[in-house]
Amino acid sequence: MPNRETFAQHLTRQGISRRSFLKFCALTASSLALPAGAAKVIAQTLETTPRPRVVWLSGQECTGCSESLLRSFEPTIESLILSDISLDYHNTLMAPSGTAAERSREEAIAGGGHVLVMDGAIPIGTSEAWSIIGGRSTLDVLQESAANAGLIIAIGNCAAFGGIPGAAPNPTNAHGVDVDLPSIQGVVQLGELSTAAPIVNLPGCPPVPEVISGTIVHFLTIGLPELDNLKRPMVFYGRTVHDSCSRLSAFNSGFFADSFDDEAARQGACLLNLGCKGPVTFNACATTKWNGGTSFPMHSGHGCLGCSEPNFWDAKDSFYTRLF
Ligand code: SF4
Ligand code: F3S
Repeated sequence: MPNRETFAQHLTRQGISRRSFLKFCALTASSLALPAGAAKVIAQTLETTPRPRVVWLSGQECTGCSESLLRSFEPTIESLILSDISLDYHNTLMAPSGTAAERSREEAIAGGGHVLVMDGAIPIGTSEAWSIIGGRSTLDVLQESAANAGLIIAIGNCAAFGGIPGAAPNPTNAHGVDVDLPSIQGVVQLGELSTAAPIVNLPGCPPVPEVISGTIVHFLTIGLPELDNLKRPMVFYGRTVHDSCSRLSAFNSGFFADSFDDEAARQGACLLNLGCKGPVTFNACATTKWNGGTSFPMHSGHGCLGCSEPNFWDAKDSFYTRLF
């Protein structure tokens, strides 16, 4: 196999300036809360490390996770990741189709060590046929692609925990990727994935784009990030969204909204009475925010639905029931 070009070489060929590349490294270091000097280490590593092969499989999903990345701005880290790392195989975005597309996947996984991204839940057992890739069940293609991967990332709540496809009554017997998670009520894991690769869960509906790209870059430059007991990177999922919410001072002073459009809500009152699940939801949205750092749900006036937690669709009563 010919030598793969480095990430930096590829960016140069795409016409992306060194200035943008260094800005990307600095942004990544800052979003990963790394110490001073880390941006330089990231830049040096990406300049000398061959581009990773990324195979992105889509199971039972709404394409929201891919859309989340596609809606990023300019040459941000998200678009760089999509355009310059992930093109080996992506069900939705790649140009080839049919056998040519499947050949791309086979070539990408041939040498092993690739990053395997799974997006969407996987139906198993007698329901396997509900999700098909190239005439084979998603489970079959996932198992083949995972066998010699270097890293497996389950993107979105569906791939991590079953998500909406796995919500009660789970008519297609849909499940998340991981085999080693502690048993979570109502979540059954596949139990059939044979791989030595670490599995990282990036749940969300969809996940924050910077969380996806930041995790990949962390793995490439520094190694596997520290994970919590649900295999989520601590750097992004180590705090609740409540901890960094723009309405936290209202919560602390007992200033609560009783309706989404009342005067209190407009003045920044806490949305706990309206069902916000922020106090029990671990994610980076309140710090990283969405749409180029513009906003996040509570900032825009809606409570958190708990989309980065297991069983978020089933587990917490109604989305609009007060948590405690
Ligand atoms: Fe916490 Fe939600 Fe209130 Fe924000 S709106 S302070 S996350 S309970
Ligand atoms: Fe999801 Fe709650 Fe953030 S619903 S997008 S984890 S604020």
